[in-house]
Amino acid sequence: MHMSAQRELRLAKRMARLGTETAFEVLVKAKALEAKGRDIVHLEIGEPDFDTPRNIIDAACDALHKGFTHYGPSAGLPQLREAIAQYVSETRRVNVTPDEVVVVPGGKPIIFFSILALCEDGDEVIYPNPGFPIYESMIDYVGAKAVPIRLREEMDFRLDVDELAGLINDRTKLIIINSPQNPTGGMLEKIDIDRIAAAIGDRNVMVLSDEIYSRLIFEGEHHSIMSIDGMKERTILLDGFSKTYAMTGWRMGYGVMRADLAAHVARLMTNSSSCTASFSQISGVEALCGPQDSVEKMCAEFKKRRDVMVAGLNKIKGFSCRLPKGAFYVFPNITKTGWPSKKLADALLEDAGVAGLSGTAFGKFGEGYMRFSVANSIENIEKALERVDAWTKENL
Ligand SMILES: Cc1ncc(COP(=O)(O)O)c(C=O)c1O
Repeated sequence: MHMSAQRELRLAKRMARLGTETAFEVLVKAKALEAKGRDIVHLEIGEPDFDTPRNIIDAACDALHKGFTHYGPSAGLPQLREAIAQYVSETRRVNVTPDEVVVVPGGKPIIFFSILALCEDGDEVIYPNPGFPIYESMIDYVGAKAVPIRLREEMDFRLDVDELAGLINDRTKLIIINSPQNPTGGMLEKIDIDRIAAAIGDRNVMVLSDEIYSRLIFEGEHHSIMSIDGMKERTILLDGFSKTYAMTGWRMGYGVMRADLAAHVARLMTNSSSCTASFSQISGVEALCGPQDSVEKMCAEFKKRRDVMVAGLNKIKGFSCRLPKGAFYVFPNITKTGWPSKKLADALLEDAGVAGLSGTAFGKFGEGYMRFSVANSIENIEKALERVDAWTKENL
């Protein structure tokens, strides 16, 4: 048969509204440069460079040998839902039951599923900007209206609650908050959380509280809106294993939410992944209930690296950087370089061999900033700083 020209790809219109996470694209670009023989310092991707702790790996191997190689319930294995319910009850000082827990492959599906389950045409969703790009992508994808709340450097990237209050209206269906925050490392204080809850008042508005970095805090304490009287029923807590236990490739996360919503999210799991990998889930029980010293060690190491990175950036022409309080990113202001963020990020990768992300990868209010991950060794961080410094001396 004669093969004609390739047929047109007839994509659904909604695909035009789906965004992406630039970190993965920059990683591909950096790898391509490496394949050509270039030496690149990787400060683009958001994952711990540590190995998963030994006890967790052993638990997974054991689970594989014991036959946890089959399908399990879509909402997660009962023993893990129980362990999560207990962990969240203790850390957020609320009473969580296992039927309010859904285990999913990573934290990301909780963003996907809660927005898919709750939001549609005519709904408004307020989300932090700069912020994790998947929020805006998913809001647009489902046809809801994305309403950014700008995070400001002069407020240490906490959100301005008065501004938030001004954005809430009768169409607001969901408010997304994230603390510690990606990409800024900013943290909401107790007073911020109290005031956010007060701004929501009695409204029937849900809050998606992305707390995936809650164990990576250098200064201050984690505060969850779920802990506030009257907010538990309206909160979807997102947390997981990726960042806390260096388990990004295991794909393990969870959401905690009212049981009737959890049933719908589990149905989305049935329709998509069926269930999270069973042996991963068994290792999740070990992660939560086993020794926690590796978490503390990792956090202390990130703090050291953060200090080196921030001090170094502040000595570089055109860069100024606040000290992030949590997560493992720094978000320097680069306006004084005179370069737009994307162009600067591209130049640093191509000319200096330092892979970082343009602030605009996190939304329009990221212009004027770059994000560097400190999930790399001090030696490599110092190398990156020297290269950026040399580049600015040559080009600015
Ligand atoms: C704020 C935030 N939420 C959620 C996620 C998703 O994590 P996971 O890899 O567990 O899906 C990330 C990962 O970078 C993140 O930064």
